[in-house]
Amino acid sequence: MRHYLQFKDLSDEEYGYLLGRAAIIKKRFKNYEKYTPLFDRTLAMIFEKASTRTRVSFEAGMYQMGGSVVNLTSGDSQLGRAEPIEDSARVISRMVDVVMIRTFEHTKIEAFAAHSRVPVINGLTNEYHPCQILADVFTYIEHRGSIQGKVVAWVGDGNNMANTWLQAADVLGFTLHVSTPSGYEIDAKVAGVSNQACVKVFDNPMDACRGAHLVTTDVWTSMGYEAEHEARQKAFADWRVDREMLAVAQPDVLFMHCLPAHRGEEVDADVIDGPHSVVWDEAENRMHVQKALMEYLLLGRIG
Ligand code: CP
Ligand code: NVA
Repeated sequence: MRHYLQFKDLSDEEYGYLLGRAAIIKKRFKNYEKYTPLFDRTLAMIFEKASTRTRVSFEAGMYQMGGSVVNLTSGDSQLGRAEPIEDSARVISRMVDVVMIRTFEHTKIEAFAAHSRVPVINGLTNEYHPCQILADVFTYIEHRGSIQGKVVAWVGDGNNMANTWLQAADVLGFTLHVSTPSGYEIDAKVAGVSNQACVKVFDNPMDACRGAHLVTTDVWTSMGYEAEHEARQKAFADWRVDREMLAVAQPDVLFMHCLPAHRGEEVDADVIDGPHSVVWDEAENRMHVQKALMEYLLLGRIG
C-alpha cells in the first residue's frame, strides 16, 4: 500500500507512467467515454481548510470513475471535537478505500497515514501540495513537452507550493529559480531535496524570471497565516508578477498560479488573464491527474 503525502513519494519513472495515464484518462473524458474502474470504491475527503478546486476535482473525478465520496470537515465530524487523528484514521480507513486530507501541520497527515489501512493522499498541508504540482507538471508537458532540463521561476512566498516545486525539480530533473522576500525563504529542510543543484536563489524576482520557461506564483497569505496578512502585504509588494517579469523570460514562457488568485496583489491582471497564462487548464488538470493517481494507488498499473 502506498500513500501520496509529498511529491518525492513517487519516482521519476512512476511519474512518467502516471502522467501518461492522466493523458489517457483526460482523452477518454473529453470523448465522453465511460471509464469506471473504481465502481465499488469509496473516497473519504477530510477538509480542515477551505477548498474549491480540490473538493470539486476529487469528488467529480471519483464519481466519473464509478466510485462514491464521503466529505468530512472538522466542523461536522468528531475531528473538530478532539478525537485523536490516529483513532479517526483507524475507523475511517476500515470503511473506505482511499482518503484525501487537507489540513494544517504535515505531521497530522503523517499520523493519519501511519494508522490507515488504505492509501492517503495529501490535498494540501502547511508544508506541501503535491496534487497541485502534479497537475502543473502535466499542464506544462501538455503545452510544451518534457519539463526535464527546463527552468521554472517561483516568485513569492516560500510556502507549501514552493516546497513542492523544489521536490519536483529534484525528482524530475529541472531547475527551480526562487525569489522570495527576506524572511519568507524556502526552508531547505522542509523541502528536503537530495540535489541542491536543482535550486538557484535570487534576491531580485526579475533575475529569477530571466530565461525561465515557466513563471509561477501563489497568494501572499496562505490559509492558516491570516494573522500575518498586513505584514505580508508590505513585505511582498515587489514580488507581484507583472509583464516586465514575463518579458525577461523565454518568449513562449507559460504562467501558472494554483488559484485562488488576487489580481493586483501577487499577479497583475494582464498576466493572469494574458496570452501566457494557462491557469484554467492547470485547474482542470487537477481532476485528470488525481483520477490517474487514485487509479494507480488503488489498482496499480493498468495494461
Ligand atoms: N489550488 C487549490 O488547491 O485550490 P483550492 O484551495 O480551491 O482547492
Ligand atoms: N499556498 C496556498 C495554496 C492554496 C491552494 C495555501 O496554502 O493557502
